[in-house]
Amino acid sequence: YVTLLPKPFQIMVILTLLYISSFFLTYTFYFSIFLSPEKLLVLAVATQETDGFHRFMQSANYFKFNVKVLGMGEEWKGGDVGRSIGGGQKVRLLKEAMESLADQEDLVVLFVDSYDLIFAGGPEEIFRKFQQTNHKLVFAAEGIIWPDSRLAEKYPSVRNGKRFLNSGGFIGYARYIQKIVKQWDLHDNDDDQLFYTKVYVDPLQREKLNMTLDHKCEIFQNLNGAVDEVILKFGTERVRVRNTVYNSLPSIIHGNVNTKIYFNYLANYIPNVWNYEQGCTICDQDMVDLLFSLSKQKFPQVTVGIYIEQPTPFLPEFLERFLSLDYPNDKLNVFVHNSEVYHEKHIQKFWEENKDVFRSFKAVGPEENLTQGEARNMGMDLCRKDLSCDYYFSIDADVMLTNRQTIKLLIEQNRKIIGPLVTRHGKLWSNFWGALSLDGYYARSEDYIDIVQGKRVGVWNIPFMAHIYLIKGQTLRNELKNRNVFVLERLDPDMGVFMYVTNRHEFGRLISTANYNTSHYNNDLWQIFENPLDWREKYIHPNYTRIFTDNVLEQPCPDVFWFPVLSEKACDELVEELENYGSWSGGRHEDKRINGGYETVPTDDIHMKQIDFDKEWLHFIREIISPVTLKVFSGYYTKGYAIMNFVVKYTPNRQAYLRPHHDSSTFTINIALNNKGLDFQGGGCRFHRYNCSIESPRKGWSFMHPGRLTHLHEGLPTTNGTRYIAVSFIDP
Ligand SMILES: *[C@@H]1O[C@H](CO)[C@@H](O)[C@H](O)[C@H]1NC(C)=O
Ligand SMILES: *[C@@H]1O[C@H](CO)[C@@H](O)[C@H](O)[C@H]1NC(C)=O
Ligand SMILES: *[C@@H]1O[C@H](CO)[C@@H](O)[C@H](O)[C@H]1NC(C)=O
Ligand SMILES: *[C@@H]1O[C@H](CO)[C@@H](O)[C@H](O)[C@H]1NC(C)=O
Ligand SMILES: *[C@@H]1O[C@H](CO)[C@@H](O)[C@H](O)[C@H]1NC(C)=O
Ligand SMILES: *[C@@H]1O[C@H](CO)[C@@H](O)[C@H](O)[C@H]1NC(C)=O
Repeated sequence: YVTLLPKPFQIMVILTLLYISSFFLTYTFYFSIFLSPEKLLVLAVATQETDGFHRFMQSANYFKFNVKVLGMGEEWKGGDVGRSIGGGQKVRLLKEAMESLADQEDLVVLFVDSYDLIFAGGPEEIFRKFQQTNHKLVFAAEGIIWPDSRLAEKYPSVRNGKRFLNSGGFIGYARYIQKIVKQWDLHDNDDDQLFYTKVYVDPLQREKLNMTLDHKCEIFQNLNGAVDEVILKFGTERVRVRNTVYNSLPSIIHGNVNTKIYFNYLANYIPNVWNYEQGCTICDQDMVDLLFSLSKQKFPQVTVGIYIEQPTPFLPEFLERFLSLDYPNDKLNVFVHNSEVYHEKHIQKFWEENKDVFRSFKAVGPEENLTQGEARNMGMDLCRKDLSCDYYFSIDADVMLTNRQTIKLLIEQNRKIIGPLVTRHGKLWSNFWGALSLDGYYARSEDYIDIVQGKRVGVWNIPFMAHIYLIKGQTLRNELKNRNVFVLERLDPDMGVFMYVTNRHEFGRLISTANYNTSHYNNDLWQIFENPLDWREKYIHPNYTRIFTDNVLEQPCPDVFWFPVLSEKACDELVEELENYGSWSGGRHEDKRINGGYETVPTDDIHMKQIDFDKEWLHFIREIISPVTLKVFSGYYTKGYAIMNFVVKYTPNRQAYLRPHHDSSTFTINIALNNKGLDFQGGGCRFHRYNCSIESPRKGWSFMHPGRLTHLHEGLPTTNGTRYIAVSFIDP
């Protein structure tokens, strides 16, 4: 294309191209000779292999840094850095290390903390940025002066940038680093930052050591006082942060002082932990392979703590789900704390049926008067004190686990503390908090909603978790040995243990324990509003949805439709509830419950209203019955309104049958609540106009037929036992 241009321009273009390529050649040459990453040595201090240390090393290994760890296995004497002064031990360790390194002319040393620090850029990048400072020694900077604010006036002023020294990271030629650290003659618990600061604020030393600060966070980003300055910057391979004040892309992120929680959030992404293209890249690292490699005899031993700390709907279902978890029972030690008298019947039954099923079983009831905290610590201690306990699995009764593999999946993820994500159905409520406000309360991290909704999938380091979690027995006996955990919240960052939540699988959900009225007999029946999903699972016939998908629906007589609607449990609990209530009407004509006080075709019944179940029943009609109506009487939109909702009892020595009648309804539903042959003989329904009888009602199935004019009908005699039906006159 050059020849298309006039001659002078051709020459210009060629010269420009030559110029650009020569620039790239020297650039590449320069880097390959002088800036080879081997010339950069990272020295990091860590006395223990904490979770933070592993995270640091993971980021270092990702960029292939050459890291040497100082002090591993040593006792930490450097004090409680972050809350008070200290850290001198770090200088002493560095001083010792530099003795053998200082004579390497072109060696550059990067000295960093490790527990609360990660790399966001690689050796070449850091090297280049260091060169660009044109100094021999560069310290991290921050906007907050620590530990001696009286030194502020001695600091050189900066027009734009952070003014004060931070000793959590610095980089320099080995000789210069040695020059500074060999001045150290203090104690391990003296303050390292104060030491370096005093050197820096001395103009002579500053010049002699050719020392400066990384004022604009080109290399080092301290988060203390700067949380609002940084945002995550997603790339296709990597994630880093951008400092929006200086428009820099720092290479090292340091969660110093009280920014640990925010730092942990950033480290859930940086440098390559999670991004949009690849999702979670570290989730499969260090897994334990339980499902395939171990025989059942070798499965780890798990102590399970089950906590019932308030009246909880669907407790029998919770216990059933627990029993169906896919884990060898002889590897489970079960501890149950129930603080509710109301639930004693459920626990008693569970105990009788399963006391010999597990490796051990211990239950503590409400009579022990344990506080929630005492109970949780008791369960946790069972694992802590039992050296054969490999894992402690804590689960509250409001967690409906739908994933039978939950225990295995959590063990396999191989973290010290990990919980499965469980959420309130259709809500943003979950068992973890993404962030904490400064006063320790709930706050949402920027990614909370994406994690809860499964738009970001991974294993997340989080500050607060409750309801369900798995802790390694080792961790209870070591890092957490003195800690009584009530709910897992705000673990001290210096303890070296991270808390994770995983949403790599669907595990289950949280149910609502609010508004649980336990004054009825079978109280879950009333949960249709508060926990609609669990209500449906428990009370709606398993084949109900097949009415719409597979046409599971019969028409035994003209315009009499017959379909499955209530589950066995719904039928049984409803009958129990009414028998518990007990005031059957006796089938008399005089009836104070209805308008006018006179019933022409009376039955022996109890109205739903009498057991305070009418709101729930009408909701059931609207949610469950209306769709069927629309299917069989297409074009008719029911209001789902009914005044007469009742359960009828037919028994030979009270009322055995009902004479032919019409119903005061547009259509009627009539649900059989028990079994012909098993619970009663006889029964059924006959429609006169069609000379059509249905003599074998099915438990849980409903008839639906027009109420007036065409469908004159009668209740056929029950000859033995007791028959129950639930009836509603809909759209009267
Ligand atoms: C630091 O050293 C560089 C050369 O590496 C030199 O150009 C610069 O002037 C020195 N700065 C000070 C403050 O001495
Ligand atoms: C349990 O606590 C209640 C109320 O605090 C008290 O009245 C009762 O005596 C306590 N029972 C036992 C066994 O400590
Ligand atoms: C619980 O149900 C009973 C019986 O229906 C009722 O009297 C009571 O007011 C309800 N309690 C609450 C807190 O709703
Ligand atoms: C649901 O339908 C299937 C197939 O017709 C049947 O085998 C099963 O027993 C039904 N379930 C119940 C609870 O009736
Ligand atoms: C009614 O049906 C029965 C058998 O189902 C039959 O014996 C009887 O004759 C029928 N009655 C009328 C009036 O059709
Ligand atoms: C009536 O039912 C009882 C049990 O409920 C049974 O023992 C008896 O044999 C039944 N009688 C008839 C006539 O079926």
